[in-house]
Amino acid sequence: MSRLHIVNHPLIQHKLTIMREKKTKSKDFRILLREISLLMGYEVTRDLPTTERVIETPLQQMTGYTIKGKKLAIVPILRAGLGMVDGLLDLLPVAKVGHIGLYRDEETHKPVYYYSKFPADIDQRTIILTDPMLATGGSASDAINLLKEKGCTNIRLMCLVAAPQGVQKMQHDHPDVDIFTAALDERLNEQDYILPGLGDAGDRIFGTK
Ligand code: PRP
Ligand code: URA
Repeated sequence: MSRLHIVNHPLIQHKLTIMREKKTKSKDFRILLREISLLMGYEVTRDLPTTERVIETPLQQMTGYTIKGKKLAIVPILRAGLGMVDGLLDLLPVAKVGHIGLYRDEETHKPVYYYSKFPADIDQRTIILTDPMLATGGSASDAINLLKEKGCTNIRLMCLVAAPQGVQKMQHDHPDVDIFTAALDERLNEQDYILPGLGDAGDRIFGTK
């Protein structure tokens, strides 16, 4: 069973509450999403393996630790997942970035695939899949199917707001993928939007409504 990590540090709760408010403008929404992504990145990468390195401080030799291998890839689900990339890259500047383009059909609410591009060695990388909204879970599940078809075996999902239905779908379809979210909300409405949620994340990031 995939583990659900609710990363609810007070700084994250504070920033998310401002993001949820309908009066918050795109510019501030983007800045806050980037800041939360950096803060969540600390938890998402907590289990990365380290390796010993002998170094010289100005005073003496010591054994320190560095991240082993550094084989990471950040994969945003377009569009809204893009808003989480820069915060993660601030933490993980050597990570490669892949992209998966999916949008939800307005009537069926099912994801429709339109684009993907990955680093050549994606199958050897630890993947951080980003999308602020885990609603029905259809988009995240399809994105992970695509990554698994490419040979990826170490995938974690980082979102911002999750609905119970999306978590259940992920745990059913991809029990090997851990989920990190800043909040677990109440439910979905008739349009499969998360309640209380924050609205349409892509539109709020890019000012398209
Ligand atoms: C949103 C969101 C997720 C998806 C979540 O994208 O960013 O990708 O919906 O819903 P689900 O869990 O029910 O699949 P949207 O389809 O609005 O596309 P956009 O980011 O391009 O606006
Ligand atoms: N996509 C969004 O952007 N918001 C939701 O609440 C659900 C899907």
